[in-house]
Amino acid sequence: MKAIILTHEGDKIGGLQTAELPIPQIKDDEILIKVHAIDINPVDNKTLQGKGQFNNIKNDDPIILGWDASGVIDAVGNDVTDFKIGDHVFGLVNFPGHGKTYAEYVAAPASQMALKPDNVDDETAVATTLSALMAYQAIHKADIKEGERVLIQGVAGGVGFFALRIAKSLGAYVIGTAMGKEEAFLKENGLDELIDFQTTDFEHATDNIDFVLDTLGGKNILKAFNILSPKGRLITIPSGIGDEWKSVAEERGIDAQFLFVHSSGEDMAAIADLLRLGVLKPNIAHRFKMTDIIHIHELMSGGKIFGKIVVTIY
Ligand SMILES: NC(=O)c1ccc[n+]([C@@H]2O[C@H](COP(=O)([O-])OP(=O)(O)OC[C@H]3O[C@@H](n4cnc5c(N)ncnc54)[C@H](OP(=O)(O)O)[C@@H]3O)[C@@H](O)[C@H]2O)c1
Repeated sequence: MKAIILTHEGDKIGGLQTAELPIPQIKDDEILIKVHAIDINPVDNKTLQGKGQFNNIKNDDPIILGWDASGVIDAVGNDVTDFKIGDHVFGLVNFPGHGKTYAEYVAAPASQMALKPDNVDDETAVATTLSALMAYQAIHKADIKEGERVLIQGVAGGVGFFALRIAKSLGAYVIGTAMGKEEAFLKENGLDELIDFQTTDFEHATDNIDFVLDTLGGKNILKAFNILSPKGRLITIPSGIGDEWKSVAEERGIDAQFLFVHSSGEDMAAIADLLRLGVLKPNIAHRFKMTDIIHIHELMSGGKIFGKIVVTIY
């Protein structure tokens, strides 16, 4: 099968190369997926630069990037009872860990996948995996109640946009930071108030927030502490950009935590339901083919493309 392997980490594209590899063998609890589409996230680009998940996978040979996949089951392990050959599935494979989805076939634990809803195509499904799971797991961890005031940083981004849709489906009042030009689109998708981060400092533009989803990190976490309500809590998701906020949260008795997304078939099944109902609809910015993957990373590393990127593999 064709795959994109990483021979060494480094700037821009690291050692990404096209390779011909054997189709993976599956374990008893795994399914073999003929991959139709994958999704590329910031963590993929961080990993090829030696950050992100690189430490978790650096001793494996070969290293294959990618964690999201949508496709059709080609074989099932002896212990798999929930799926059969021919089922169309999607999900986040082995995160944190080694996903290996930049390939024509991937072996995935059955417990991490869900059936793809019939009303969406592979590109839509795969665009609703890592960032949708992150948003789902954060919003559910925060236990948002109807009517609560929620601030989503980077609400037009991969995670932020799904978080908006999930928080609205729970009846929250949602304020988001984004560029002003995104306002009409975000309001059509339920946003109650937009704070334009290019012209306005959110710390002085809102208050009494019950939950902040921080997708920015750094000083933005400390600033967000100042706008929380007495029952306010905060979840931050960017990694590796300092944790001075932890001691401040402890001193001030603020419920703030870092959350890492994890593969979960149960959560993917909930996301499949939200796709089926039309609650989730990814905002796909770029569609590419497998032969473009190295070029996509050049563009990402150069800050030349933004938004949700899907790649077809078939
Ligand atoms: N902990 C985890 O498990 C986990 C999981 C998923 C993602 N993450 C991390 O979370 C972060 C966000 O991920 P993502 O996929 O949502 O990224 P993304 O798609 O690049 O979205 C980031 C959004 O933030 C906006 N933005 C930039 N500067 C801003 C500012 N000062 N104020 C408000 N918004 C601003 C960007 O707008 P423009 O495009 O207009 O600049 C973009 O819409 C990344 O660091 C990612 O690695 C962590």
